[in-house]
Amino acid sequence: MKFNDKICIVTGGANGIGRCIAEAFIHEGARVAVMDTDAESGTKLVEKYADKLLFIRSDISEKESLERFAKKVLGAFGKVDCLINNACISKKGLVSRCSYEDFNDVLRIGVTAPYYLTMLFAEHFAPGAAIVNISSTRYLMSQPDTESYTAAKGGISALTHALSVSLAGKVRVNAVCPGWIDTGAYQHEDDYVQRYSSPDEAQHPAGRVGKPQDIANMVLYLCSEDAGFMDGQNIVVDGGMTRRMIYHGDNGWTMNEKE
Ligand SMILES: NC(=O)c1ccc[n+]([C@@H]2O[C@H](COP(=O)([O-])OP(=O)(O)OC[C@H]3O[C@@H](n4cnc5c(N)ncnc54)[C@H](O)[C@@H]3O)[C@@H](O)[C@H]2O)c1
Repeated sequence: MKFNDKICIVTGGANGIGRCIAEAFIHEGARVAVMDTDAESGTKLVEKYADKLLFIRSDISEKESLERFAKKVLGAFGKVDCLINNACISKKGLVSRCSYEDFNDVLRIGVTAPYYLTMLFAEHFAPGAAIVNISSTRYLMSQPDTESYTAAKGGISALTHALSVSLAGKVRVNAVCPGWIDTGAYQHEDDYVQRYSSPDEAQHPAGRVGKPQDIANMVLYLCSEDAGFMDGQNIVVDGGMTRRMIYHGDNGWTMNEKE
């Protein structure tokens, strides 16, 4: 097991991609600390993994909560090997008139918390430690009305190269930028069935929508010694979606101007 005796932190690790990452680390021998606002899902994880998992129900948008979380993690484990800044939310954008407060709330969760957690753990990273920030392909492309989320993702992608330089020689820092990831199987519902269509799959050059495991695989690679020469990078994992060039009338694509 590649992560025996390692201590890994996953924010937003109670559901979705974060839960898949937390479970993948545990399956590879790590002990994992999860900070998440969802107590119900967090409790289920503790029941499943017992002493392999420390769950702290807390909100990463609050400075004092981050400080309390860091203190508890260091009290329990004394070091950090991997920090996965995963949690983020969206509160839409210009079309919906996302407010000043809501915009800042998204940035606090998506950018400020990853920065502040890194600072709180800065003196406690073990040799060979790694940080992986979960960004999005939306850091480089947009739909309308997505400004709060897109700004957070631009922020965390830029934060990634800044931190990699500040922590040079101590901690490698990379980001994973997922495309469309179907997280249904990692949400509350146990009997999830997929809700996307065959064209949804076919538009991806890889021929399918992403799974949380696609992201967890890349996170574990970036945290491993195999990725020892990877630093400061934003790695897109999107089934090739951002590489497909689209022109109206070409290859079956149609621009509907009413939308
Ligand atoms: N699912 C996708 O298609 C996709 C695509 C690109 C990027 N991403 C990114 O991947 C990451 C995970 O996405 P997901 O789809 O699994 O999200 P999700 O909404 O399914 O899960 C997010 C988790 O974070 C927790 N959380 C939210 N706000 C929090 C807060 N303030 N404090 C603590 N915990 C909080 C939630 O309770 C939840 O458990 C996010 O950064 C997201 O932007 C997802």
